[in-house]
Amino acid sequence: MASGMKYIWWVVVTIMGLSIVVSSTMQEWDEVGEDHPPQVPCFFIFGDSLADSGNNNLLITLAKVNYQPYGIDFPHGPTGRFCNGRTTVDIIAELLGFDNYIPPFATANGSEILRGVNYASGSAGILKETGKHLGDCISFGRQLKNHWITVSRISDILGDKNSAKKHLNKCLYWVEMGNNDYINNYFMPQHYPTSLLFTPEQYADFLIQKYSRQILKLYKFGARKLALIGLGQIGCTPNAMSTHGTNGSIACVENMNNAVTFLNAKLKSLVDDFNTNFTDAEFIYVDAHTTTESQNHNSVPAGFEVLTSGCCPVNEIGQCIPSQTPCKNRALYYFWDSFHPSEAANLITAGSIYIKYLTQLVGSFNKSSI
Ligand SMILES: *[C@@H]1O[C@H](CO)[C@@H](O)[C@H](O)[C@H]1NC(C)=O
Ligand SMILES: *[C@@H]1O[C@H](CO)[C@@H](O)[C@H](O)[C@H]1NC(C)=O
Ligand SMILES: *[C@@H]1O[C@H](CO)[C@@H](O)[C@H](O)[C@H]1NC(C)=O
Ligand SMILES: *[C@@H]1O[C@H](CO)[C@@H](O)[C@H](O)[C@H]1NC(C)=O
Repeated sequence: MASGMKYIWWVVVTIMGLSIVVSSTMQEWDEVGEDHPPQVPCFFIFGDSLADSGNNNLLITLAKVNYQPYGIDFPHGPTGRFCNGRTTVDIIAELLGFDNYIPPFATANGSEILRGVNYASGSAGILKETGKHLGDCISFGRQLKNHWITVSRISDILGDKNSAKKHLNKCLYWVEMGNNDYINNYFMPQHYPTSLLFTPEQYADFLIQKYSRQILKLYKFGARKLALIGLGQIGCTPNAMSTHGTNGSIACVENMNNAVTFLNAKLKSLVDDFNTNFTDAEFIYVDAHTTTESQNHNSVPAGFEVLTSGCCPVNEIGQCIPSQTPCKNRALYYFWDSFHPSEAANLITAGSIYIKYLTQLVGSFNKSSI
């Protein structure tokens, strides 16, 4: 019964989310000017392939996707986004009222950085070794170093450190790390020793200690509105299911999903601690789980028909094979390739996160001026 209620509520949120996305896209996307400022002046994004918008394109790595059919539904074609169209953070930028996508650090220049920068890097994690069997990537630690470069550029543009700090205090910060510390580390014993060294709970402890120091750095660089995104159900991706196999009626790899719940629980209490310790800032834990939970239920997320395989033919690392024709009915597929949700799924995730969490965070500006 409870899950039935949750599902109905989820559908309501979804519909609200979608109608906002649609109206924002149709009415304002190309027209917002100086007289319609976004709800926050700037949006900084830290993350992995779920948010990467081109930072990996120049790296030597297998984890880059600036080729067709990626971007088949994106206005600028293949950009390095691990999706057929917009990522969740692209859609959230639209919902926040930005008139352009947040530029990737790799190419951002000039005064556009005042609106924010996207540092996300496919295959990257909290640990610097995570994802390295695929090649180079920009770990969260390196993303923070890149942010420090942005901070000093902003000081130069605005004239002094104080003005930069004031500006940075008003921005929204999106931090979504950790998925690869499991997918491309803990659950790859052939490449990484972590599962021999740690139980899932010990590993979550190990990660959260590092993560908390990193997030603290972000606070020290001036972040005062931080959305920390919990890990999703990594055991429900087509890759997880085909690589590890599933167990009877539940169409997901349970031990993968169970492992991330330890980290999510610790992240949640870290957010509480941060809010207690830093009263001039607001941290929010975003439960990414709720937006995908119906994958685990018999009820298929509204509108999706295919959950267990991606839309494009994939190579051995689960990415689309270059130039192969993807499925036509992309809105029916929850997954685009073997790891990454389709734009249709991202629309639902972004809409529900925006309504459930971000409206609260961007609406509470004044805590930062205490
Ligand atoms: C910097 O931005 C301008 C547009 O503002 C663009 O024309 C130029 O190519 C960019 N430079 C680099 C190195 O990306
Ligand atoms: C399958 O489920 C059973 C019962 O929950 C459990 O004992 C077993 O270890 C599981 N096997 C795998 C491969 O997850
Ligand atoms: C919060 O402050 C307490 C007491 O100073 C400290 O022990 C704890 O580590 C702090 N937590 C965080 C997340 O900063
Ligand atoms: C924030 O505080 C300022 C004064 O400190 C006030 O003028 C403004 O209306 C407040 N904004 C909101 C959204 O409460």
